[in-house]
Amino acid sequence: MPSTSEKRKADHLSLCATNEVAFKNKTTLFEQMELLPRALPDLAMQDVDTSTSIAGKPLGAPLWISAMTGGSSESVAINKELAAMAQELEIGFCLGSMRPMLSDSARATDFQVRDVAPDALVMGNIGATEIARTGPEPVLEALKKIGADGIGVHLNPMMELIQPGGDTDFTGVIDAIAALVQAAGDDLTVFVKETGCGLSWRDGENLKKAGVRVVEVAGAGGTSWVGVEALRSEGAAERIGKIMWDWGIPTAVSTAWMADQGFTVISSGGIRSGLDMARAVAMGAGLTGVAAPLIQAREKGGVKLVREYLDDLIFGLKVTMVGCGAADLAALSSVPRVLGPDLSRWIETGWQGR
Ligand SMILES: Cc1cc2nc3c(=O)[nH]c(=O)nc-3n(C[C@H](O)[C@H](O)[C@H](O)COP(=O)(O)O)c2cc1C
Repeated sequence: MPSTSEKRKADHLSLCATNEVAFKNKTTLFEQMELLPRALPDLAMQDVDTSTSIAGKPLGAPLWISAMTGGSSESVAINKELAAMAQELEIGFCLGSMRPMLSDSARATDFQVRDVAPDALVMGNIGATEIARTGPEPVLEALKKIGADGIGVHLNPMMELIQPGGDTDFTGVIDAIAALVQAAGDDLTVFVKETGCGLSWRDGENLKKAGVRVVEVAGAGGTSWVGVEALRSEGAAERIGKIMWDWGIPTAVSTAWMADQGFTVISSGGIRSGLDMARAVAMGAGLTGVAAPLIQAREKGGVKLVREYLDDLIFGLKVTMVGCGAADLAALSSVPRVLGPDLSRWIETGWQGR
């Protein structure tokens, strides 16, 4: 008999294997960011340099596979496949929530991917409310066991409120994050992420005070995790979850805010093309992340289609870079751009939250 958390993880995988859990009416707003094309780029495709680094690890492209799974039998196979691909493509890989490991250390083998990804950037993952309960030590021990380079702490209050049996008390979370950052020291990177509702200006200020230097925005416009939990709920939670489906800050906006506050930013939530990646880098992101499309590609065509999806992202980024005459990511970050009215309005009015 699978445990409740195994059942939840299995539900997440099957719901995300379809596109039924995408945002309905809200987008990332990256479509309102035009990068200025150049007809005379004076560049050869083969000379375009997409390399970067994060947490001391070199990456061939500004991309990681965002946190997805762990803790169900299917997730062990998925994590190995994706981590092996990250190793091959020189991109990063994040495990899904390591919560099962905290209550049963024998579950460490479920999260072990170093055999297939010895050098890749590998990050662990845990919920913020979980570290508020356990404190930093069990988390750091779990990371050592699997040889991860760091950990993403996920914030997901709206998702939890709709999730059957989810958390309803979010007090003490920022102190728990500060304690984790301090306990991790310089050895492990602690980054903080949302799961599809984005990080606000005020969130950024609080995270900075807590010592966080890296954030993954996981904004609105891609997978709606409120939507996922609405589909798993009954009664009032289902009804309210359907109303709150599109809750969140568009990814382009959250990326702009976090970059402006000086974070190393991973832009994610609805990144679906190399053009999106280029726009995110131009908006100030150091890296981009993608999640649900990889589960959908795997469902349709196994590892071959997952590989094709990732290859297309990287190829699309290079095509865009040549198109706007950017030889490397530094040049891409300062490419002239035109912002549409909703994106400009969001960026400007959001700063009133200072
Ligand atoms: C099947 C699946 C499971 C996920 N599980 C986690 C998780 O355990 N921890 C976490 O921080 N985010 C989790 N996420 C959220 C993603 O990391 C990401 O922030 C979100 O899906 C938005 O990205 P996307 O639009 O590319 O899917 C999961 C996503 C998927 C598709």
